[in-house]
Amino acid sequence: MVHVITVASGKGGTGKTTVTINLGTVLASYGKKTFIMDADIGMANIGLMIGLENVPVTLHEVLAGTAGINEAIYDGPGGVKVIPSGISLQGFQQANPERLKDVLKDLVDRCDFLLIDAPAGISRDGVIPLSVADGVILVVNPELSSIVDALKTKILTEVVGGKVIGVIVNRIVAEHAEHLAEKMEKALGVGVIGVIPEDPLVKKAAAFKVPVVTKFPLSDSSKAIKRIAAKIAGKTVEETEVAEKDKFIDKFAKALFRGRK
Ligand SMILES: Nc1ncnc2c1ncn2[C@@H]1O[C@H](COP(=O)(O)OP(=O)(O)OP(=O)(O)O)[C@@H](O)[C@H]1O
Ligand SMILES: [Mg+2]
Repeated sequence: MVHVITVASGKGGTGKTTVTINLGTVLASYGKKTFIMDADIGMANIGLMIGLENVPVTLHEVLAGTAGINEAIYDGPGGVKVIPSGISLQGFQQANPERLKDVLKDLVDRCDFLLIDAPAGISRDGVIPLSVADGVILVVNPELSSIVDALKTKILTEVVGGKVIGVIVNRIVAEHAEHLAEKMEKALGVGVIGVIPEDPLVKKAAAFKVPVVTKFPLSDSSKAIKRIAAKIAGKTVEETEVAEKDKFIDKFAKALFRGRK
């Protein structure tokens, strides 16, 4: 099973951070030890999106060598562990992305999944997350510029010794749906892991600084993200629904019998 997954794109704004946070939240809800890391050290977003923007230590300090990784791990939604990056320009300047490999060595043994949110574009700090992961997932939108840029990122990944394991097509609307998977597979030469519809509830949840899978678990986008998480974790969707039901029954039973001998 692939443990360390870098979520990348090419073109900016395709939904990498949204996918990282929501997939991480679902994987953690399966009881998997899951970490999400903001390797977009120049334009950090994970902290902002889930209310961890004012934390004292971030990946910046870890990459600057002034803090250890354990100091930069925070509890996130659904029990996911979050390693945010800082938002200050000075912190970014002092962070050395080359240290990421050593940081990962410290982390990989204690997690089932580590999702790394990569920066858009082709930059020095963007290339490292592509090379250090077991697999790279490309988040693309169903438009030509996004697909072309994703192809560049795929080629770059291979050049630096990484491997693209699949594509997530985000923000699809009905008119895109026909033969979408075949078209993407033909254009990018890798399989489609899943598709996520355009859904206004994604932004609505973000306004509350909560992942959509937590805020609106029954929304179409949440269902799509859960299907992708199940695939990544090697579960059938039925298994995960049963797991959720079991957890509910367990909680319900505990609440009923709380305080009884
Ligand atoms: N399925 C969706 N439906 C509607 N809006 C979405 C969807 N996915 C993402 N968005 C919105 O698109 C915007 C960009 O998403 P996000 O920040 O996750 O992209 P990104 O690839 O991380 O961007 P950047 O390259 O700037 O880091 C956000 O406002 C987000 O709420
Ligand atoms: Mg982002």
